Amino acid sequence: PNAEAFLRALPKCEHHMHIEGSLEPGLLFQLAKNNGVTLDPARYTSIAALEERYKNFTSLDDFLLYFNLAMAVLITEDDFEALTFAYMTRVHADGLVHAEIFFDPQAHVGRGISLSVVVAGISKGLEKAEAQFGITSKLIMCFVRHLPVESALESVESIMEYVKTGKVSGLGCDSTEKGNPPEKYKEVYQRARDLGMKHLTMHSGEEGPAAWVRTTVEELGITRIDHGVRSADDPEVLKLLVDRNAFLTVCPLSNVRLRVHTDVSESPIPKFMAAGVKFSINSDDPAYFGGYVLDNYLAVHKAFSFSKETWRGLAIDSVNGSWCDDDRKKEIL
Ligand code: ADE
Ligand code: ZN
Repeated sequence: PNAEAFLRALPKCEHHMHIEGSLEPGLLFQLAKNNGVTLDPARYTSIAALEERYKNFTSLDDFLLYFNLAMAVLITEDDFEALTFAYMTRVHADGLVHAEIFFDPQAHVGRGISLSVVVAGISKGLEKAEAQFGITSKLIMCFVRHLPVESALESVESIMEYVKTGKVSGLGCDSTEKGNPPEKYKEVYQRARDLGMKHLTMHSGEEGPAAWVRTTVEELGITRIDHGVRSADDPEVLKLLVDRNAFLTVCPLSNVRLRVHTDVSESPIPKFMAAGVKFSINSDDPAYFGGYVLDNYLAVHKAFSFSKETWRGLAIDSVNGSWCDDDRKKEIL
């Protein structure tokens, strides 16, 4: 309880949270009803049954099946606004001061929802949260690895109008890592750079090996790495991350639910600290993985019992790793 109050009060930033992954079972069923969407009755029986199923994911792909099915209930601008505002309200209570949020445009456009509806809804939720709670945010488009590179290129091109208006700030890459090494996406990131996109990140080294993190840094020139936990398997890769001043967005509860480790105590966080690799602690898909950002901090504390000084340092790192401007960082710190 003591640790909880302390960690809650620390000003924290989150950099790895998929807005679709914040769709709680309760809201999922409610939106299905409102929108007249029929969910697969074999999978969607009750809130309690769904929560149980979420405790038994066997892999990233097993989770992604549920993650992608649930999106069917997100139809209107109001749905995206409600989803986003619910997340921001929840993390405001966790002491979050700045959130960098992913969304998957291809997953929505591919089922007939227009990009303008998605971006407008999420943006409204973010603006409302900033007005009410003072939490700032950035929105990051991810392209998905389970669709062809051609589709990713189209998605990047179509997002540029929202980058120009400041509604979208960066580019990431998510979904199935196995079978999809980073070099496959060199062209996609190059196109984003050519079009003037400044903030780039990539899911790498979640299920894929440390060597793929090396490729992400050396060949794609990306130094923000989502997950990156498998880097800890190779001291040379850890050294590379330090040399390039890279930043990892680590998701401890996600890694347990998706069987990357069996327990948070197996997280390489202490190895990263010993090696001098900078990182933040994040929730990934809080509605699916058993907790929001503070729950992740608490799980790490339970595993490693860091001192207050250490925690203050980690929270400061989370601020410095953010894509907000220096004025905002100063204001937070
Ligand atoms: N999409 C949502 N969460 C993800 C994760 N942890 N890894 C890859 N793709 C994702
Ligand atoms: Zn993720």
